[in-house]
Amino acid sequence: MMKKKIIVTGGTGYIGSHTTVELIEDGFEVVIIDNLYNSEAEVADRIFQITGIRPLLAVFDLCDREKLQSFLQSQGNIDGIIHFAAYKAVGESVNKPLEYYRNNLLSLINLLEAMKTCGIPNLVFSSSCTVYGQPAKLPVAEDAPVQPAMSPYGNTKQIGEEIIRDTAAATEKIKAIALRYFNPIGAHPSALIGELPRGVPENLVPYITQTAYGLRKELKVFGNDYNTPDGSCIRDYLHVVDLAKAHVTAVKRLVENKNKSDYEVFNLGTGMGVSVLEAIKSFERVTGINLNYQITGRRAGDIEKIWADPSLANRELGWRTVSTLDESMKTAWEWEKYIRKDKK
Ligand code: UD1
Repeated sequence: MMKKKIIVTGGTGYIGSHTTVELIEDGFEVVIIDNLYNSEAEVADRIFQITGIRPLLAVFDLCDREKLQSFLQSQGNIDGIIHFAAYKAVGESVNKPLEYYRNNLLSLINLLEAMKTCGIPNLVFSSSCTVYGQPAKLPVAEDAPVQPAMSPYGNTKQIGEEIIRDTAAATEKIKAIALRYFNPIGAHPSALIGELPRGVPENLVPYITQTAYGLRKELKVFGNDYNTPDGSCIRDYLHVVDLAKAHVTAVKRLVENKNKSDYEVFNLGTGMGVSVLEAIKSFERVTGINLNYQITGRRAGDIEKIWADPSLANRELGWRTVSTLDESMKTAWEWEKYIRKDKK
């Protein structure tokens, strides 16, 4: 039987590369489109090392409408697209709103137009729990109200979801699933792929691992006066391999026509809230390293506490997280050590 063919945009990025591995291991043919803005072509070699199969890597920008159309035309039958490619730095988006709106929205519009032109029926979209803001009720389920975005980045996810919802409603042949990620962390157990932020990390776990490695002097814990048991913020941290597997399940649901409507939304999280201080303790426990950290003031725009109600994804996708926080921290650390040696 012919392999089903999936386009993964942003496939050399953090979540995209892990998803590509899981798709290949599940028997899909994967074609990556990436402009390498925030990743390296070498990731395709690493995927080959892990899976024994090298995905085709097409290097171009999704904002180039003609190029995108002609490339997808040249690919023959495509069963679905998983769309990761986007800018994602919250702080940067506040200073560069137009870059964020142009890049994240134009690429999505171009992709949807190309799907219509080329007859590609299925889209899985990378969204975020940021759409919930600070939810009134926890854990937060998909029917919770979407709140005004706190950053242009967050707004591109909200608007992106709306563009897809409206397009799926208006276009008979297009079906879509938006996946709202909570906080993806960790790395592949091979330590060959993982998260590699440009410059100073904004996110907690890369900051922890870089501090432990000696690249940063100390981790700043942004606030211990929140209304939480230990005063630090609470998030739902899920292992990136678990997250990647959810994409395989979601794309299969569309390809096999098992979706219940043309546009569906699923939370992807563990269902468990973990504080910043608990996350640090987990890292220290599994690595035996004493992390140098200091409590400082709150970070502007931070949400106090959020964790997922993942029961819809559990039920409908037959998916749930299996890795623990400790396993996530351990793999994040293995990856940090691997990549630093490699870069020397
Ligand atoms: C942030 C974004 C979210 C986005 C995600 C993408 C906000 C409000 N949310 O999530 O929309 O989808 O990034 O990566 O900006 N922390 C520290 N010290 C640090 C770094 C983080 O204490 O050096 C704390 C934060 O205060 C937070 C937790 O660690 O409580 C997680 O932070 P982070 O990894 O940045 O993720 P989010 O803020 O949840």
